[in-house]
Amino acid sequence: MIDDIRAAQQTALDRIAAATTLDDVTALAGQLLGKRGDLAQLKTRLGALATVDDKKAAGQALNEATAETSAALDERRSALAGQERAARIEAERLDLTEILTRPRRGHAHIVTQAWERLEDVFVGLGFQVAEGPEVETDWHNFEALNMGVGHPARSDFDTLFVDHAGAPAGTTVLRTHTSPVQIRTMLDQEPPIYIVAPGRVFRRDTPDASHMPVFHQIEGLVVDRDISLAHLAGTIEAFTKAFFGTGFTSRLRPSYFPFTEPSGEFDIRTPSGEWLELGGCGMVHPDVLRAGGIDPEVWSGFAFGFGIDRMARERHAVSDIREMFTGDIRFSEQF
Ligand code: PHE
Repeated sequence: MIDDIRAAQQTALDRIAAATTLDDVTALAGQLLGKRGDLAQLKTRLGALATVDDKKAAGQALNEATAETSAALDERRSALAGQERAARIEAERLDLTEILTRPRRGHAHIVTQAWERLEDVFVGLGFQVAEGPEVETDWHNFEALNMGVGHPARSDFDTLFVDHAGAPAGTTVLRTHTSPVQIRTMLDQEPPIYIVAPGRVFRRDTPDASHMPVFHQIEGLVVDRDISLAHLAGTIEAFTKAFFGTGFTSRLRPSYFPFTEPSGEFDIRTPSGEWLELGGCGMVHPDVLRAGGIDPEVWSGFAFGFGIDRMARERHAVSDIREMFTGDIRFSEQF
């Protein structure tokens, strides 16, 4: 009897080892451990054994054989599952590499190109590049620039406010212009100051062909002894010729900004005689110098600011400014 059990167990283990699929294992489990399996058949013969000890020994051998068979089934099942999984992963593998016969070289976006050329031209004129945060305090963006709470000029800037823990509502803004960098620079360094600050600015505008709620400006600030309006006009003229070409010229028109006095707007004239409005400028207001910790009796300065996107748009004759920000490579590839 014991020999029969051992033989049945060996047959079972051999068949399990020979199974090549999970389905085989499942079928085998039914055959080997099921009610009509070899082991079950042997069990029915236990009652016919002569002595209690024989019964006990055979019973034990049967239990062992059942346990071993079921362990072998489990082991085979997990080995096959692992193999099948590996095979499936291999079959489903995606090749994400792309073989190009010739490398395709990309290039900077037209706004980045304009931004970098502007920096180059101003660095060539002796300016340094400064920067400030895009999320600003109301103080840097308005208050220190002579636009206290309730100043009517604030409504020219459709301001986006930022909610953040700790700060009272309305005191944190997305900067509406690059002018707060004037304040940060003055607080940060001693005059003489000659900086330009390009960067992203935000206004609550509905996008259309010539407006985006996110756009770019470049700010200029000079603070030195005896700076006059002539220096401002001369700098803008030098910039116009260096950036657009010697066929271009510039002019200032009277205007108003709370942070400059006098204030102007500047235009450039194309070789064909067309005037294009470029930006705002003026002599830095004494209050603004004071907010920046600079004595207006000793120092004076000028500032200017204009849009970068407009220049890129003008230069490449883009009819709809929104095209510049869709991220569509078919647009960018044209330039
Ligand atoms: N910050 C102004 C604007 O965004 C432009 C400006 C800058 C005007 C510096 C004067 C001096 O409209």
